[in-house]
Amino acid sequence: MESISTDAWVLPSAARQPSRAELVRERFSFAPLAADEVLVAPLFGCLEGNMLHALQRDPIDICQVRREDAVVLGNAGVVAVQRTGSNVTRFSEGDVCLLFANGVPDDAGYPIKIMGYDAPGTMGVLAKSMKLQERQLIRIPPASPYSLEQWAAFSLRYVSAWANWRVAYACWKSQRAETPPAETIVCAWGGGVSFAQVALAQRIGCRVMMIASGRERLQLLERSGIEAIERGDPDDAAFEEHMLAELTRRTAGRGVSIFIDNIGSPVQQITLKALAREGVMTTCGWKRGMRAHIARAIECLSRHIHVHTHFANMQEALDAVEFAEQQGWMPPQPERIWTWEQIPQMFSDYAQGKIRTYFPVFSVNSPAQIGLLR
Ligand SMILES: NC(=O)c1ccc[n+]([C@@H]2O[C@H](COP(=O)([O-])OP(=O)(O)OC[C@H]3O[C@@H](n4cnc5c(N)ncnc54)[C@H](OP(=O)(O)O)[C@@H]3O)[C@@H](O)[C@H]2O)c1
Repeated sequence: MESISTDAWVLPSAARQPSRAELVRERFSFAPLAADEVLVAPLFGCLEGNMLHALQRDPIDICQVRREDAVVLGNAGVVAVQRTGSNVTRFSEGDVCLLFANGVPDDAGYPIKIMGYDAPGTMGVLAKSMKLQERQLIRIPPASPYSLEQWAAFSLRYVSAWANWRVAYACWKSQRAETPPAETIVCAWGGGVSFAQVALAQRIGCRVMMIASGRERLQLLERSGIEAIERGDPDDAAFEEHMLAELTRRTAGRGVSIFIDNIGSPVQQITLKALAREGVMTTCGWKRGMRAHIARAIECLSRHIHVHTHFANMQEALDAVEFAEQQGWMPPQPERIWTWEQIPQMFSDYAQGKIRTYFPVFSVNSPAQIGLLR
């Protein structure tokens, strides 16, 4: 059978593009559908931190790791099914689904590698047409009141947030079963995943706060009923003292029960110092500084639990979608959608910190063009 060819924005290997990595628009060819695979047309995608890591070839060069000449990135989005392999039973042409980017699962279903990132032979939504396995699709609830753009933003960050929160909250409860949610203080630094997680904690009745920079983000937090704390400059000499004083004041000296830290070394000491006794430091990523240095004795004496997770298994993703649909736990409707042509500029602006939304959504194929009513 003939290979399939599509218009795509690809990340070329360092052998092809030795300078700073940039997306290149070209025809991308991939093998015909296997029996358990599905051909889909991406509708909307969402720019994710891992896509930038891939472009920066840091911490890994994914083309080199995958031994591939070019990789199509993009593991968050919404797609429409175009064609199915002979063994596919759960989906048919026209179904609109979320991507579930679990590329290579372990024996408990948790991902070892991520689709459209480090899982070899997989592709993402930066292509007009892509293929994936049946198990990497989740149908969007029929007649959902939420837009496809919101579901695109949901697919990776909200599912990651759900899976990380599930473990972090269980850890907190393992030592503080008697503490009701209203007395559980949840604080976060970071971006879209942290925002999603704090919004989830809020829905189960915890007291929530988030540290962020810039007027737009602080306003979004306030509008969402999340206490907004303005982030200072981590390079400022008084940064740690200032942030700790602020967190002590806001928690009336009790400390933070569950601290979501998706930033890393520039803030980690503050995270740990601000934790309550039996507090949980939880993360599923890092933005600045991947390595951790901890005072083990102090962490033991304080009975702190450190949680590390990586995306989700299928049950967590299904539970996240069901909860979202029932409780309205959704990303805000995006104010701007980047076009297919604007994708490289969007990456560049994101890398320079010029994009203020937590959920930069872009369009790949128009739903109307591929025969879906909008
Ligand atoms: N393992 C998983 O399942 C998974 C899933 C999704 C994402 N991730 C990873 O998690 C990390 C966070 O992802 P994300 O999508 O939530 O982030 P994001 O939306 O890309 O945003 C990162 C945020 O970090 C904040 N920031 C930047 N520099 C900072 C600094 N020096 N100190 C404090 N805050 C700083 C910025 O917010 P302010 O300027 O407003 O503070 C920014 O909004 C990334 O590494 C991503 O790859 C992991």
